[in-house]
Amino acid sequence: MRIAVFSAKPYDRTFITRANAGERHSLSFLEARLTADTAPLANGFDAVCAFVNDCLDATVLEQLHNGGTRLVALRSAGFNHVDLATAERLGITVVRVPAYSPHAVAEHAVALVLSLNRMTYRAYNRVREGNFALDGLLGFDLHGKTVGVIGTGHIGLIFADIMHGFGCRVVASDPFPSPAAKSFVEYVPLATLFASADIISLHCPLTPETHHLINADAIAQMKEGVMLINTGRGRVVDTQAVIAGLKSGKIGRLGLDVYEEEEQLFFEDLSQGVIDDDQFMRLTTFHNVLITGHQAFFTAEALTNIAETTLANIDAFESGSGTMHRVVSAK
Ligand code: NAI
Repeated sequence: MRIAVFSAKPYDRTFITRANAGERHSLSFLEARLTADTAPLANGFDAVCAFVNDCLDATVLEQLHNGGTRLVALRSAGFNHVDLATAERLGITVVRVPAYSPHAVAEHAVALVLSLNRMTYRAYNRVREGNFALDGLLGFDLHGKTVGVIGTGHIGLIFADIMHGFGCRVVASDPFPSPAAKSFVEYVPLATLFASADIISLHCPLTPETHHLINADAIAQMKEGVMLINTGRGRVVDTQAVIAGLKSGKIGRLGLDVYEEEEQLFFEDLSQGVIDDDQFMRLTTFHNVLITGHQAFFTAEALTNIAETTLANIDAFESGSGTMHRVVSAK
């Protein structure tokens, strides 16, 4: 098949080319993000391969359909950026990579917890400048603290396991409690989780129900000085409310790998220009905020799985046999 690979970075090219053994598909790597402006680049391609910040709304899907595209192969687990109803109406099949390395994301969430707790990012800079003072670096023992996990799917359960290993108590909230959850995971109502957790980590998908799940009302129910970690999706958190929580001290530490308006920022080198997002820049001024640019998934194992599953999805679509991880709208 002829495939247009959007938002292609050098590492995508490396791993996807490796997975395309025998050059069985014809791949065109495009640096551009998929939008209504760039969709015409896919004219004549059977399939479009897209990542998390590519736009697959009704307008773009209509354009792809008119250009002959029959398959959208997502290189992600999340599919909140795809208008599935429109794709189905147009006869475009949408496939995804359901779980590529839940360990990668869970481990990154733990990295944010550890760095924020002991402020290693501040210590690094201080020591390089010959400043060995410890003021401002005070952490707390993780042992004995309560960790709240929102969303106990693949990633949330691994995060829970690791935190349990530190000696934390784990409370969790999920409308569908997992049968795979170990006995130490205590499912509690969300309000109980907010009120009892010292650290809250978000591992639920973005859905209409989880949009701004963490808003002013939720923050008001949390413990004073709570640590909040988001490696899920940016829009699960109301950024304005979180900034207010940081200013008041209610939120003591904030770790983000995803951000509400990240489509305009992440995955690009914007260091030579002006960042025109005042809300994001405000976040970067807090010493107790650590932001990474959607890199939680970024391990060699995850990129290998993403590339291999994506190519297997495309093989299955083309041949009509084998496993295809199809996404359909919840009607
Ligand atoms: P999963 O589908 O295995 O688990 C998601 C869990 O969230 C499910 O158990 C589901 O019942 C639960 N959930 C749904 N609505 C909820 C609600 N209102 N409150 C609490 N829980 C709710 O997904 P997985 O693989 O664990 O991934 C979780 C999320 O992590 C993805 O949806 C994606 O948004 C994000 N992600 C982020 C990455 C990154 O690089 N930062 C990479 C991969 C995924």
